[in-house]
Amino acid sequence: MRRIPEPELMDEAEQARAYALADFDEPNERFVQFFETHYPELRTGAVLDLGCGPGDIVLRLASRHPALVVHGLDGSAAMLHYACERLHEAPALSGRVQFIEGVLPGATLPLPAYDAVISNSLLHHLHEPRHFWQVLREAGKPGARVMVMDLFRPESEQAAWAIVEQYSGSEPAVLKRDFFASLCAAFEPAEIRAQLAECGLDGLEVRTVSDRHVLVTGRLPPG
Ligand SMILES: C[S@@+](CC[C@H](N)C(=O)[O-])C[C@H]1O[C@@H](n2cnc3c(N)ncnc32)[C@H](O)[C@@H]1O
Repeated sequence: MRRIPEPELMDEAEQARAYALADFDEPNERFVQFFETHYPELRTGAVLDLGCGPGDIVLRLASRHPALVVHGLDGSAAMLHYACERLHEAPALSGRVQFIEGVLPGATLPLPAYDAVISNSLLHHLHEPRHFWQVLREAGKPGARVMVMDLFRPESEQAAWAIVEQYSGSEPAVLKRDFFASLCAAFEPAEIRAQLAECGLDGLEVRTVSDRHVLVTGRLPPG
């Protein structure tokens, strides 16, 4: 099926609330485990999460790895409201975790460069995906670790609805609507490989890791 782009920011109050309250335990935990397995040596330094939403992955990483600094960037104040609320409930993390409001490309980051740049479910929102890869490349140090997970586009709208029903059958309607729109807006693995080649990042590996997720890993070029 052809890609149907969706709005970039998730800045409606109801939408952000439904997303923040939804159960993403399984994919978010898997994301953190992928990070731990791929980059076992990275237990100190600074990590940037692009499109962090309500901050679940940022807070999971920071609480499991007490020497990591973790920053989360998102353009939606409504999403960051929930991220900051959660951080407030975990005061022990406040010295190492920071949430930044900013829209890609062109957001100002607190650090000049990061040891790792991660992102879950942002890429498919972007109308110009090369902006995502350019920001990721600029934000990382030479050789920085990369971990990007996203949905990939199913073959048809029927297949997309089947995925929505299988994984969010009992969630609120607004969340199911957004999930369907995200599947239709997502890129196919071959399209992601073409984006990487265009940005000089074809050293990164792209592979599917579930019936709906694609994972991009590897290191930024050395200089
Ligand atoms: C589907 S959510 C993913 C949130 C989080 N990464 C997670 O895994 O739960 C996508 C997030 O990207 C943000 N976003 C979309 N386009 C953006 C842009 N151009 N700049 C900054 N944030 C953006 C949205 O506001 C939203 O919070």
